[in-house]
Amino acid sequence: MIKILFYDTKEYDKKLFEEYNKEYNYDITYLETKLNKETAPLAKGYDAVCIFVNDIADKETLDILNECGVKLIVLRCAGFNNVDIQNLPENMKVVRVPGYSPYAVAEHAVALLLSLDRKIYKAYQRTKKYNFTLNGLLGFDIHGKTIGVIGTGKIGKVFINIMKGFGTEVLAYDIYRDEQYAKENEFRYVDLDELYEKSDIISLHCPLTKDNENMINKAAISKMKQGVVIINTSRGKLINSDDLIEELGKGKIGGLGLDVFDDEEDFFLNDMSNSYYRNTELSVLLTMPNVVITAHQAFFTQEALNQIGKISMQNIKEFFETGNCENFVN
Ligand code: NAI
Repeated sequence: MIKILFYDTKEYDKKLFEEYNKEYNYDITYLETKLNKETAPLAKGYDAVCIFVNDIADKETLDILNECGVKLIVLRCAGFNNVDIQNLPENMKVVRVPGYSPYAVAEHAVALLLSLDRKIYKAYQRTKKYNFTLNGLLGFDIHGKTIGVIGTGKIGKVFINIMKGFGTEVLAYDIYRDEQYAKENEFRYVDLDELYEKSDIISLHCPLTKDNENMINKAAISKMKQGVVIINTSRGKLINSDDLIEELGKGKIGGLGLDVFDDEEDFFLNDMSNSYYRNTELSVLLTMPNVVITAHQAFFTQEALNQIGKISMQNIKEFFETGNCENFVN
């Protein structure tokens, strides 16, 4: 029987995979701990490990998994920046769920934007206290604004369509342009500088790669409009937090909506409210009045979870039955 070790699992993961495993009957063990070089030896005797966004599969960890006999790494997510693909042992494969619900993530990006713009997070706290004043809650119409979208893959495209529905002009940047889609959906591809200069709102929908780490840094922000709203539901390391905090402090950034953070591994998806362990940059960002942070929640809809469960199990079956898989990363 195929043995699979799940790392970084919460109650909802267990519930989901127990349901989808009914069809397959794999021998699954669920661990709460994350994958890293210290926890990799636990995989001894397992055929596959299943991991999530904040598990670390660097070279050292991959080598240990290889020694343990692991043949397959099953990412139950789309992004694979946490796996060192360049240093993958020869007989090890990585599968992922390339698109489980672009709607979940794109809609969450819109939720962050609307929350920031219309100060829903402030209004919620006020009305709870029976304070019904409007001072400080002034927003702006999204209609008529220019939206810059970086990355026009599955999620970026859904986000563009929603934004077009608001009556906005969309400028997009991608290393591979889908000109046909742009024509059909009435948006324009531009270079990054033009996108930075002209956008009122910028939303990131590209993967994290070696080339774009820290792409939103001091130099990039200096090209943006005064009061620009930045939304990041992609990966934290696309933004340089120090530069961001400096520019927020100067009032250059009008609003910041984050679902990801560059050092999120120790914090996001965990209850740290009773811990003294803090991240300085994250703590500073949380004190800012125009910043809304959610903890890697964008994927978290029932529809997306169902797809994650279904496709992950299909990936495992395909690999162990045929040695192949349409969702190989490598
Ligand atoms: P996708 O692969 O369909 O699209 C990514 C697009 O980004 C492609 O068109 C690609 O050409 C483009 N791209 C690649 N490198 C680029 C660069 N340096 N600059 C500009 N564009 C670049 O991926 P999808 O499904 O749209 O997901 C995008 C990202 O969203 C994922 O890589 C992941 O990091 C993030 N994500 C976040 C989730 C969350 O819960 N917060 C959940 C799922 C994905």
